Amino acid sequence: MTAFTVTRTIAGQQRLSRKIIRSGKTIAIVPTMGALHDGHLSLIRRARQKADIVVVTVFVNPTQFAPHEDFDRYPRDPKGDIRKIKEAGAHIVFMPKRSDMYPHGYETYVTVEHMTGVLEGHSRPRHFRGVTTIVAKLFNIVQPDVALFGMKDYQQAMVLKRMVKDLNWPIRMIVCPTVREKDGLARSSRNRYLSPELRAQAPALYHALKTARLMVRDGITRTKDIKRKMRSIITKNAPDAEIDYIALTEMESLKPVTSVGKNTVASLAVRLGPVRLIDNMKIT
Ligand code: PAJ
Repeated sequence: MTAFTVTRTIAGQQRLSRKIIRSGKTIAIVPTMGALHDGHLSLIRRARQKADIVVVTVFVNPTQFAPHEDFDRYPRDPKGDIRKIKEAGAHIVFMPKRSDMYPHGYETYVTVEHMTGVLEGHSRPRHFRGVTTIVAKLFNIVQPDVALFGMKDYQQAMVLKRMVKDLNWPIRMIVCPTVREKDGLARSSRNRYLSPELRAQAPALYHALKTARLMVRDGITRTKDIKRKMRSIITKNAPDAEIDYIALTEMESLKPVTSVGKNTVASLAVRLGPVRLIDNMKIT
């Protein structure tokens, strides 16, 4: 089984996965919402080194968007996505229909409790319930041995790792580094909605994160001091930015720290006009 295949039904993907598993091959999954960029493609390329068959899923998941969020105008480019996925060397694209994934009468959700109430979860209360539910469904359909996610969505990756551990899925979770533009802005499908003026301010996030890391290297450990400096960098370099949060947390548990420890991650969310940008960096 090496021919490139696009599956569009759950039954079709299940049949194909069963066949692959019976032939003794391993499966890696890369879940996405499409509008693929270099960040996504880096996960696909990494996945090829981790399993025999790479399945990329493309599904704009309605349950992770709040009613006021951008589900309807989330960028969609199925043809372009299929081409890019093929070029990146994946074997299967799973592109299910909304009515198949959430048929009439659907009412089962997977929730990870406390970790989803902080950071992104604080501003987007039901977001992670949608993420964990769709990823659980994709895992059940595709039956992967390995799953790859980006550190770009730091909290999402930690929440999903927790879910896999708690629900005893025999799946190896791999978190891959954030792919950035030359000026440091993390690649994101939503960056295209930044006007040139706002785009020019966007690297301030990366600048603030890098400064946090340098401060730690210089021996500064108090969270308060680091956060204050990060805030001042954003305010100075991105005058249109509305800061949602700046946080220093222990990497896996997402618990806030008062002074930096072994695995501290700095993360932030900033609204720039129509776009909410998130970014993070391990600073120790
Ligand atoms: P999406 O935003 O399409 O991202 C798909 C995967 O690509 C995620 O694991 C994300 O962290 C990773 N990714 C995005 N930008 C990246 C970058 N600049 N560098 C490296 N990796 C990057 O995240 C989702 O979709 C959805 O929530 C999903 C998990 C598919 C569930 O619907």
